Amino acid sequence: MSLDEIKIGGLGASRKRVEDNRFIRGKGNYVDDVVLPGMLHMEILRSPLAHARIKSIDVSAAWQIPGVRLVLTGETMAARNLAWMPTLSYDTQAVLATDKVRFQGQEVACVIADDPYIAKDGCEAIVVEYEPLPPIVNPMQALAPGAPLIRDDKENQKDNVVFDWQVGDKAATDAAFAKADKVSKIELHYPRSHPSPIEPCGSIADFDRSTSKLTVYMTTQAPHIIRAAVALVAELPEHMIRIISPDLGGGFGNKVPVYPGYVVSILASILLERPVKWIEDKTGNLISTGFGRDVYLKGELALRKDGKILAVRMHTDSDHGAFFSDAQPSKFKIGLMHSAFACYDIPAAHLTARGTYSNKAPGGVAYRCSFRVTEAMFFQERMVQAAADDLGMDQAEFRRVNLVRDDDFPHRTAFGFLTDSGQYAKCLDIGLEAIGYKDFQKQKEEARKRGRLLGIGISTMTEPLGAGNSREYDILGIKMFDSAELRVHMTGKAILRTGARTQGQGHETTWAQIVAHELGLPADDIVVEEGDTDTAPFGMGTYASRSTPVAGAAVAMVSRKIRAKARKIAAHLLEVSEEDVEWELGRFYVRSAPTRGVTIQDCAFAAYTNMPDGLEPGLENVSYYDPPNLTWPFACYIATVEVDPQTGVWDVLKVVAVDDCGVRINPMIVEGQIMGGLTEAYAMASMQFITFDAEGNCVGSNYLDYLLPTAWETPGFELHEVVTPCPHHPIGAKGIGECATVGGPAAFVNAVMDALKDSGVRNIDMPLLPDRVYQALTLKKDVSGAPPVKTDD
Ligand code: CDP
Repeated sequence: MSLDEIKIGGLGASRKRVEDNRFIRGKGNYVDDVVLPGMLHMEILRSPLAHARIKSIDVSAAWQIPGVRLVLTGETMAARNLAWMPTLSYDTQAVLATDKVRFQGQEVACVIADDPYIAKDGCEAIVVEYEPLPPIVNPMQALAPGAPLIRDDKENQKDNVVFDWQVGDKAATDAAFAKADKVSKIELHYPRSHPSPIEPCGSIADFDRSTSKLTVYMTTQAPHIIRAAVALVAELPEHMIRIISPDLGGGFGNKVPVYPGYVVSILASILLERPVKWIEDKTGNLISTGFGRDVYLKGELALRKDGKILAVRMHTDSDHGAFFSDAQPSKFKIGLMHSAFACYDIPAAHLTARGTYSNKAPGGVAYRCSFRVTEAMFFQERMVQAAADDLGMDQAEFRRVNLVRDDDFPHRTAFGFLTDSGQYAKCLDIGLEAIGYKDFQKQKEEARKRGRLLGIGISTMTEPLGAGNSREYDILGIKMFDSAELRVHMTGKAILRTGARTQGQGHETTWAQIVAHELGLPADDIVVEEGDTDTAPFGMGTYASRSTPVAGAAVAMVSRKIRAKARKIAAHLLEVSEEDVEWELGRFYVRSAPTRGVTIQDCAFAAYTNMPDGLEPGLENVSYYDPPNLTWPFACYIATVEVDPQTGVWDVLKVVAVDDCGVRINPMIVEGQIMGGLTEAYAMASMQFITFDAEGNCVGSNYLDYLLPTAWETPGFELHEVVTPCPHHPIGAKGIGECATVGGPAAFVNAVMDALKDSGVRNIDMPLLPDRVYQALTLKKDVSGAPPVKTDD
């Protein structure tokens, strides 16, 4: 009698992605595809220097070029009080530079013209006179006595420190270290990386004076936050602002911040009363938009000789660039770095976290991760492997001794988070079995005798996904919850809108599956829309793998509201009281006569044609969901590698991933997320290199230097699953989108370090380029990747 959930595309169906129908036909609709009547084009003039005082800007020649309609500088922005804007982290950021330039690539002036080429010519005609200042390119320089003050625009800023924060129990940690049999120490740098979505950033602002309505097509992962920001900064009425985030060619956190190009295109459209399009080029995207990582760690573990970790001590210095502009939960100054060691049972921990300014583009965006968890997990797993080696203990066994046990949930972590479910040891066992751990150890020994270097690296981690709850998580005071609105039409077809914004994760497919699971409507009968603030309910957007934990939960909850109303209608149609009505997938029936029933589609029709007395017509509702806790997926990634001692080149032999993201809505999409994440993890570990020389020049500002892995380099991945439902999520799901990017890099690096163990090398900073590995092997010493890069030798 009951519908087959898999057949209707419900929970657990590997339904093909519906959005791909348009993407594979080239019918996606990205910002750059939008063409409006009378549209003008904007280009940005960027600073060639990392740190310099602006002595003068001469725009007269630009104005002379036929087709140039407007030239804007910091001065013209300042006249409208728009030279600076607030950031998502309570800082300020220059829209167009007025006093100084503070990083190479900073926005100095904008030219708006009839076409993009004229606008570019206009930029080239602008003459800027700079007085160079000494640049700062890392936290050590930023903190040095007498360092030049980067943010002299801020009244109370007397040094280059953005924040200095601590968490944990210092006294308990110190006491545990005093009792330790051994203390294991390591210093690491997680280098800058760039999310580099295939589509750079862009916007089209269209101000209509006759209606006073501002419509902005924009590459944003969080359209409602942008609407609120525009309303507050430009003092425009919120209901007259419409932000449309069309199809996005990837975001990965890069499309969360507000960029100057968006702001200037809006002002230009208001001034010119014409649509103004700005599309960033690839180098503009790479050198000026939200970087990830760039954090230094000094880490220590207090160890008992049987392998038990007694305490952890961490100090991090993170480089935030010239403006602290990434999104940041206001209560946690360095994102969620203190989510480290959440999967291990550790009695005491203490973390000090300092952030500094530098003459680099604003950094610290959560590149495919929740705020700073990628760095946290990388440091954690590198510290764990170093500690196991220091104790002379097997790395898998060391983890097993310390992992939180299944019967120890809910578990309060040493840094104060509450994790609620997981089967960590089971995941580790499956991973070890799949990689052939015991056999590999033998192969390694045999290979060593023949001069070959094999290594195995493990990374186990649980990470917090799905901010909020609203009690603890807000951005600029805006509480982190999310929403879904479901409208079931008379014929049983439906439209669902959420406050999230897909950027490749497949929400159009998976959200319909949740509705199908809750209501029994075929997933193909539900269309999903996101990204238009005029139609979607308010939401905080998509980043930090929060969609499934928060918006996905809202989808389930709104479906349940619809079901509750449909039940009343069913009782009316079946002429029984509501209490006598039972539900099975897609159908209500009379408890005492199960063959007498009505389908959900019958109820939808009746909602518009045959309502019971006293019940509002229609079948639609909205849910705002405030999760009680974060979700805590667990992952175990294991990689084996072979290092060539003659060249430093290392090859991946095998990668095994065991992920527990609770109930999987669409197993195929989940696997795609894991493979994509592991690909990025491999790229970060092996090849991606974007840094700054001593002058603050960005090295790696194009895709010849900053390498993206192709199918040619990317290894194969063997995936396994464990399902521990999330106890508080309505369908038991946990986030998955970013797990592999977060947990993956340490597996590759640990594997190479394992291969190099006999040479006494303890660390090579990412990326593990062959020359670094070769250098470490031949000189028998660690290789630090800390910038600045010397370019004169
Ligand atoms: O926030 P974001 O969409 O980046 O990440 P996510 O919530 O982890 O979801 C990524 C994709 O995987 C979405 O299409 C989800 O619906 C899907 N997913 C799933 O099918 N089952 C899960 N347990 C988690 C995510």
